[in-house]
Amino acid sequence: MFKDLLNSDICKTMTSTKNILGLQLPTDPRWVDLAGISIEEILTDHAFCEQKAATTCISLIQKYADRTRLVAELAPVVTEEWGHFRMVLAELTKRGLKLGKQRKDEYVNQLIAFQRKGGDFEDRFLDQLLTMAMIEARSCERFKRLSEGLKDEYLKNFYRRFMESEAGHYHLFIGLAETFLGKEKVRQRWAEWLKYEAGVISKMDVRGDRIH
Ligand SMILES: [Fe+2]
Ligand SMILES: [Fe+2]
Repeated sequence: MFKDLLNSDICKTMTSTKNILGLQLPTDPRWVDLAGISIEEILTDHAFCEQKAATTCISLIQKYADRTRLVAELAPVVTEEWGHFRMVLAELTKRGLKLGKQRKDEYVNQLIAFQRKGGDFEDRFLDQLLTMAMIEARSCERFKRLSEGLKDEYLKNFYRRFMESEAGHYHLFIGLAETFLGKEKVRQRWAEWLKYEAGVISKMDVRGDRIH
């Protein structure tokens, strides 16, 4: 998967634009410097992000078991995200560091708050897919910052591979949304998500112990 994405158009698009994957607010440049001096915390937080990505994909499969394409596309993502968790865990172990406790995920909680909870079933479904697309897009952007700004050469390459993988997942979730809800509906709602997410990021403290 990593190798497949390496030569793909996704990477070219991602690296040639200032605002990666349409994100409206680039990460504060101070973040990567703070992250570089909090590697244990960053790896721990990253590990739990991967774990949550895997479990959320499992939940989506359980909830929308009748949507064949969703099940078929998300089943391998579960494996991949769990593989990511194991890679981060191995990196912690290799460095003699420990997987700490999971922290409150303020960023994701704020995204969940934007999901429509009542009303039309399909609108709620759309927001669940776009929440995942949003987290993948921002994660991809953060991994890009790490791949460019860390001093540790090994970790730079480590994070470049994650960046490529999460970009692929962003496209997968947008593609799934378009399949079930149609391009126009997705385009309109995605614009609202991007605007909301920029507001969330602008109000969050810049701290180096969190991926988001
Ligand atoms: Fe991942
Ligand atoms: Fe992902």
